[in-house]
Amino acid sequence: MFYSICGNSRFRLSVTIATVLGGVWLAGALIGGPSTASAAEDGKKVEIEASRDWLGGIPEAPTEDWGVAFGGRLYDNWAAALDEEEPKETHRAYPAAGKKKGYSTWRCKECHGWDYRGAKGVYGEGSHFTGIKGIDRMVGRDPNLVNRILRDDTHGYTREMIPESAMKRLALFVTRGQHDVDRFIDGETKKARGDAARGERFFQNMCSPCHGFDGKAINFRGADAPEYVGTVAQANPWETLHKIRNGQPGAPMPALRILPTQTLVDILAYTQTLPAK
Ligand code: HEC
Ligand code: HEC
Repeated sequence: MFYSICGNSRFRLSVTIATVLGGVWLAGALIGGPSTASAAEDGKKVEIEASRDWLGGIPEAPTEDWGVAFGGRLYDNWAAALDEEEPKETHRAYPAAGKKKGYSTWRCKECHGWDYRGAKGVYGEGSHFTGIKGIDRMVGRDPNLVNRILRDDTHGYTREMIPESAMKRLALFVTRGQHDVDRFIDGETKKARGDAARGERFFQNMCSPCHGFDGKAINFRGADAPEYVGTVAQANPWETLHKIRNGQPGAPMPALRILPTQTLVDILAYTQTLPAK
């Protein structure tokens, strides 16, 4: 079959589709049967390299929604989102007492958190503790201010690392793309404040093409310590919501932030019911 995730860029999704009289069929070993066979016979075979546009491309007329989501993927993991080389040294602003080193200390989320609250949030303790403040105070502020902060001596992101156009989108995310985590996730129980039954309808139609109906089609870790959508959603709902809204850096996963956040939280609630092992 033709759905494969592989290749030299971290994820290359190649999908062969057969077009039939204006209808597009995800060609179908999934379905099998005569209709698929005839679709493949008289239809054109088209190779889509998802990586071409989605990974690293810029639309001719970028909408703000696209830009904010791209910025969200940079916040998550800018080197993966830009397919850039990762700095090897530990970030100069990362505290000596911190437990991480190397590139992970350059990810925005490592110092400021998946909940955007820094030391006042989930990273206020544990292996990700840095004591650094969050970025939530920047909501609604001028993106140029954020741009300046990120080029300053504390942060030290050079244009070689994050080019100006990408930096603008990152600043858009910081000023316009954050959500109020407490509204959507119970900090005590980690439970999404959503309707799992409603989320299931979205998950089956929007996530399962890649993640499977039980969320186990993609294993994010090795075979010995498997990690699935359910695993991540239960352990880290903040990260999961961030990725549902903004996509997965370097991977052909859609960014759904154009949908109402409550709908995405319903999906999150459902993913928390999926098997973790
Ligand atoms: C190694 C840790 C570290 C990383 C990684 C990091 N920052 Fe920061 N950030 C800081 C520190 C420390 C401050 C506070 C600086 C100060 O107050 O002078 C800060 C402050 C900020 C502020 C200002 C917050 C405020 O309310 O004043 C923003 C916005 C910000 N960072 C965004 C980002 C973004 C976006 C990224 C990723 C490109 C990032 N940071 C990566 C350490 C980090
Ligand atoms: C077009 C395929 C595709 C779709 C649709 C998709 N994903 Fe993904 N997703 C991926 C890929 C590829 C990865 C990266 C896998 C990796 O890093 O090993 C990923 C990663 C993730 C991760 C991150 C795991 C981690 O810790 O790095 C989560 C969580 C996730 N997806 C949830 C969802 C949810 C929920 C939906 C539906 C709203 C969804 N995905 C839709 C392809 C997809």
